[in-house]
Amino acid sequence: TLSKPVLGIESSCDETGVAVYAAGRGLLAHRLYSQVRLHAAYGGVVPELASRDHVRKLLPLARETLAAAGVGLRELGGVAYTAGPGLVGALLVGAACARTLAWALEVPAIGVHHMEGHLLAPLLEPDPPAPPFVALLVSGGHSMLVHVAGIGRYRLLGDTLDDAAGEAFDKTAKLMGLPYPGGPALARLAEQGRAGVYRFARPMTDRPGLDFSFSGLKTQVLLAWQASDRSEQTRADIARAFEEAIVETLTIKCRRALAATGAHTLVIAGGVGANRRLREQLAEAGAREGFRACFPRLEFCTDNGAMIALAGALRLAAGQHADAAIRVFPRWEL
Ligand code: KG4
Ligand code: ZN
Repeated sequence: TLSKPVLGIESSCDETGVAVYAAGRGLLAHRLYSQVRLHAAYGGVVPELASRDHVRKLLPLARETLAAAGVGLRELGGVAYTAGPGLVGALLVGAACARTLAWALEVPAIGVHHMEGHLLAPLLEPDPPAPPFVALLVSGGHSMLVHVAGIGRYRLLGDTLDDAAGEAFDKTAKLMGLPYPGGPALARLAEQGRAGVYRFARPMTDRPGLDFSFSGLKTQVLLAWQASDRSEQTRADIARAFEEAIVETLTIKCRRALAATGAHTLVIAGGVGANRRLREQLAEAGAREGFRACFPRLEFCTDNGAMIALAGALRLAAGQHADAAIRVFPRWEL
């Protein structure tokens, strides 16, 4: 059934994302503005600067996105926004904007969990996976395995005990002197690394369970880097071994989660889902072992408005919406 388009707004961290999604028609348009250059000089996201930049960029970006979608403001059936988790000031910009728009347009507004957005991002692709499936959520803030029985029916199977996978990429990049944002830079460097020069442990794969721990890897890398000749080739070799350790660990746990739940579909989401080696290894494991591995396109692995518009549209279609008070949840369990 065709339904009215939903505007989605993402502003939980350092990306301003806006999209228009309509059930039955799919994604009509999406736009992203990244603040990465703004924060690069500080070596990380500065929350106050992030909030101010969302204020500057959000409405122009929404206008541009609606124009690209060919949708007038008054044709909208609802407004979805990321209500958490994330930086509280940044979240409040998106929430205030979305709720005010919805109030003025007399349509419902819905606050979406950022990780639910990531989790559902693979549904934006052609031939989308249908629940039940297992989702690997790997971002800068989370490393989780979740069983998805249906929209809104999520069961946590495993979580990180310390650093998230993306955080491990970022911190490891930083300690080898790579510029912010480190994760993607480290992954690029790993492409130049030689196989077998270094080898790091696959944390917590030697015992049963679906939890992760990545902080020890960081220490192993630090020790290896300090004891090395610190040449470019060595840095690439270490980057490669680090990436292999993370990717193999994630692959082992995904296979375990599929076996434990009896699911035949694996969904990968979140920024680390953009990692080429991870995509290849999980696709290969799936071909070998008979499960389907579904990834969002690269630009929908990292933060974006499309996943929020989609998650919001699904929840609004299920009759959910928020009341008039503007609330955000900087810490919020899925
Ligand atoms: O989902 P996301 O954009 O933001 C959060 O919700 O955290 O994920 C960002 C994380 C960062 O830690 C970044 O280093 C990591 O995803 N990331 C990558 C790659 N691209 C982004 N990690 C490994 N390989 C990549 N190609
Ligand atoms: Zn995210």
